[in-house]
Amino acid sequence: MIEIICPVCGEALVEKDKSFTCTNGHCFDKAKEGYVNLLTSSHKPGSAIGDNKDMARNRREFLSKGYFDALVRGISEFIKEKAIPRPTIADICCGEGYYGHRIKSEFDCDMFGFDLSKEMVRLAAKRKNGITYFVGNLSNIPIKDKSVDIALHLFAPFHEKQFRRIIKDDGYILSVVAGENHLFELKELLYDTPYKNDEEPPSAESLTLIEKRKFTAKAHLETKDDIMALFKMTPYYYHTKDSDKAKIENLSEMDITTEFVMFVYGR
Ligand SMILES: C[S@@+](CC[C@H](N)C(=O)[O-])C[C@H]1O[C@@H](n2cnc3c(N)ncnc32)[C@H](O)[C@@H]1O
Ligand SMILES: [Zn+2]
Repeated sequence: MIEIICPVCGEALVEKDKSFTCTNGHCFDKAKEGYVNLLTSSHKPGSAIGDNKDMARNRREFLSKGYFDALVRGISEFIKEKAIPRPTIADICCGEGYYGHRIKSEFDCDMFGFDLSKEMVRLAAKRKNGITYFVGNLSNIPIKDKSVDIALHLFAPFHEKQFRRIIKDDGYILSVVAGENHLFELKELLYDTPYKNDEEPPSAESLTLIEKRKFTAKAHLETKDDIMALFKMTPYYYHTKDSDKAKIENLSEMDITTEFVMFVYGR
C-alpha cells in the first residue's frame, strides 16, 4: 500500500471523502480531478511552478500517439522480470502521466505519481486510472521511508537523497535519460554540427548502479502537427531562432530515431 505522509509534520495522511488528513489536523483537499496538492509554502518554488499548460497539453498529445513506446516496452520488460507481487510503483515527476498510465494498465500494482506542475498533475489525474496523484516537490517527497518497490524517474531532475529514502531495501529506481542518438535527425536539421547526447549516469554515491539498458527504435511522424508537437517538447524549440524553426515547420513527415537509456539503481 502507498503510504503518503503529511508534508508538514510527517505523520500518515489518511484519505477520507474529499480530503487527506493527518492526526495533527493538517488537511489537504482533493481537487475535482481527484489529485491532492501537497506542496507546502517552504517547498514551493518562486513564480513559475513546473511546466505550464501548453507544455502539458503538448506532451499529452504527442506521447499518446505511441511514438516513444520503445521505452514503455523496456520498462514493462523490467517489471515482468522482477515479478514482484502487486508492487508499489512511484511515478516521480510524472508529467502528464503517460508512462505511469501504460504501466498501470498492464500490471496489478499500487501506483502513485507526483509532479511540481499542477497542470501536469491535473491532466494525469483526469485519466481516472486508479493512480493516486499529488502535486509535490522532489526535494520533499511526502512518502514514507522504504515504501517503494519500483520508482519510475523519466527525463527529470535527480534527487539521490530522496530516492534512497523512499525505496525499499530491495527496491529499484529506473532513471531514464535520452540516448546518444535520440532525435538526432531533428538536431541535424537545426544545427551545423549536431552533437550526440552523452549517456552519463547521474552520479549517486549512496545508491548502487546495478545495470544500464538501452532501447532504440525508429518512428515515422506522419503529420505536421506531430512534428511540431515533438519539436515543442524538446529544449531545442526554445533555443532556436524563428528562421531556423521554419526548417522544421515546413516538414510534412519525418523519420526519427528514438533512443532511451535506463539506469537501474538500488540502495
Ligand atoms: C521532461 S518532463 C518529464 C515528465 C514525465 N516523466 C514524462 O516522461 O512524460 C520533467 C518533469 O519534471 C517536473 N519537475 C521538475 N522539477 C521538479 C521538482 N523539483 N519536483 C517535482 N517535479 C519536478 C516538471 O514539472 C516536468 O513535468
Ligand atoms: Zn500533519
